[in-house]
Amino acid sequence: SQPQLLAGKTITITAGPTREALDPVRFISNHSSGKMGFELAHAAVRLGATVNLISGPVTIAPPPGVNLINIETAVQLLEQALIFAPKSDAFIGCAAVADYRAAAVAEQKMKKQDNELTLTLVKNPDVIAAVANLTERRPYTVGFAAETQDVANYAKGKLVNKNLDMICANDVSQNGLGFNSDHNALTLFWHNQQKELTIDTKSALALSVMTELAKRL
Ligand code: C5P
Repeated sequence: SQPQLLAGKTITITAGPTREALDPVRFISNHSSGKMGFELAHAAVRLGATVNLISGPVTIAPPPGVNLINIETAVQLLEQALIFAPKSDAFIGCAAVADYRAAAVAEQKMKKQDNELTLTLVKNPDVIAAVANLTERRPYTVGFAAETQDVANYAKGKLVNKNLDMICANDVSQNGLGFNSDHNALTLFWHNQQKELTIDTKSALALSVMTELAKRL
């Protein structure tokens, strides 16, 4: 068993993709498996935390001992995040939130068009930025950044722009790492510090991330 570094702490984690309906049978989503977020939740439980796991549709089982909240859309994710974040010591945004949703969801199945179909999309809310900008009961806020180039610069940009306390960056252009894989490598950034976590299982990395977080709560 692990040292109970997070005993008495409540951690809320978002995980998986969101799913944005276009009509009753179609949606926009992405390839997020939810693995990293679920491993973070598992690690937090192992370190003694009370864990809320807000997840989009995934095919993996939740770790034992978490409070699982299922959502589909970014708007639903925001609603739940704003309920749980103010009751949490830390909030970790690991979900791959769809950046856009349909401006209007068709009530009936859309019919085939000739050649082209134009969809109007509107921007989804930035969930983690909303949490990080809470003025009362703001939790320690941790984001993730999946990048294919210039990882450090983009990650540090998001740390500042979204008003986060910490960001975990991974290079998703590296074969077999990140999306859908059991392995990952992360660089953790704070406003005045950084730490490299080299290639490992998502499970081991999750324990390292939660250990670093515990030091700062
Ligand atoms: O801007 P980008 O999507 O790269 O930022 C990634 C971070 O922001 C992740 O922590 C992700 O969970 C969070 N995010 C969010 N809501 C969005 C978009 C991203 O919480 N609409």
